[in-house]
Amino acid sequence: MIVYHVMMSLYQPVQVGSLALSGNIFLAPVAGYTERVFRSLCVEQGADFTFTELISAEALVRNAALTMPLLRRADNELNYAVQLFGSNEETMAQAAAILLDEKSPFKPALIDINAGCPVPKVTKTGAGSALMKDPRKLARLVSACLRRLQPCEIAFPVSVKIRSGWDADSINYLECAQAAVEAGAAMVSLHPRTRAQGYGGKSDWRHIKELAARLPVPVVGSGDLFTPEDAKRMLEETGCAAVMFARGALGNPFIFSQTRALLLNGTYAPAPQDALLETAFRHLKLLVCDFGEKKACLEMRKIFCAYLKGYPGAATLRNRIVHASTIAEYAAICSLDCVS
Ligand SMILES: Cc1cc2nc3c(=O)[nH]c(=O)nc-3n(C[C@H](O)[C@H](O)[C@H](O)COP(=O)(O)O)c2cc1C
Repeated sequence: MIVYHVMMSLYQPVQVGSLALSGNIFLAPVAGYTERVFRSLCVEQGADFTFTELISAEALVRNAALTMPLLRRADNELNYAVQLFGSNEETMAQAAAILLDEKSPFKPALIDINAGCPVPKVTKTGAGSALMKDPRKLARLVSACLRRLQPCEIAFPVSVKIRSGWDADSINYLECAQAAVEAGAAMVSLHPRTRAQGYGGKSDWRHIKELAARLPVPVVGSGDLFTPEDAKRMLEETGCAAVMFARGALGNPFIFSQTRALLLNGTYAPAPQDALLETAFRHLKLLVCDFGEKKACLEMRKIFCAYLKGYPGAATLRNRIVHASTIAEYAAICSLDCVS
C-alpha cells in the first residue's frame, strides 16, 4: 500500500470568533511605530492582520479627537485591531462602544486588551501587565467590553495580549488566558517574557506551545521573531495559530512577503537594498501627508535608521539622519533625488 503524506502548509487562515482572516502572519502592536502608514506598508507586503499600538481607553472616552491619529485605519487595511489599555470596566466598555458606534470612522474588526505593557506609567494605574496580577479582573474587562457590544448582530471579537506573568515567581499565563477565554475572549496573543524581563533575555516559546495545546481559541505567538525562519520555527515548534512580528518588522515590511513565501514555497528572495531605501522614502512621504513635514521628519529619524540595517555605510548615514528635519535633507543625506 502506498502511503501519501499530505504536507499541510504552515500558512493557514485564522478564524477569530466571527472574524475570518486571510492568513496567520500578523503585525504586532508596537508603540511609536505601528501607526497607519507603517501598517499600510506591511499590509502591502501581505500582513494578514494588524494592530494599532496601545491606546488609552480613558483618553479615548475623555476626548476621542485627541486619540484620532492613533486610531486611523489605512485605506488598504481590510481588517485591523485596535488595542486598548485600561483597568476600569466601565471605561473600557465605553471606549469599545465609541469605536464601534454607528458614526465611528474607525470600525476595527477586533478589540484587543493590553495585559502585557511593562511601562510603570501604565502598570501603576492597574493596566497593562499589572492585569496579570489579577486574572479575574482581566476576565471582567473582557466581559464588560463584550456585554456593551452585544447589540451587534454577530458577536464582536475581543482578544487579550498577555505576557508569561508579572515576574519569574508568578508565571500565570495559563490562568490569565483561561480566565479571559471563559469570559469570552476569541483569541489570545502571548509574548512569553515576564513583565520583569521587559524586552530583554529570551522569550520562552514553551509557554506558547502549552497555551496553544490548552486553549480552544487561536493562540498568537510573539517574541524573538526577527526573520522568516524564526516565524516558521515558531509555528512548527509551538503549534500556535499565528505569529506576530514586532521588532523584526521595523524598517523591514518585506518580512511579511518573505515569510509567506517561505511558508508556502520553502524559500524566499532577500529584499533588494534599493527597495528598502525606496520604501523608507515612501514611508516618510506618507507620514508627511498624515502629520505634516516637521513632525513626520522628526518621527521618521528612528524609523529611517531601522530601514538602514545592513545598508553599506549605515553608521555614517544614521549619524546624519538623526539631525534631518526636511524631506530634502533626508534625500541629500542618502544622495537620492527623492524629493518630487
Ligand atoms: C518599542 C516597543 C513597543 C511596544 N508596544 C506594544 C504595544 O503598544 N502593545 C503591545 O501589546 N505590545 C507592545 N510591544 C510588544 C510587542 O508587540 C511584542 O510582543 C514584543 O516586542 C516581543 O516580540 P519581539 O521580541 O519579536 O519584538 C512593544 C514592543 C516594543 C519593543
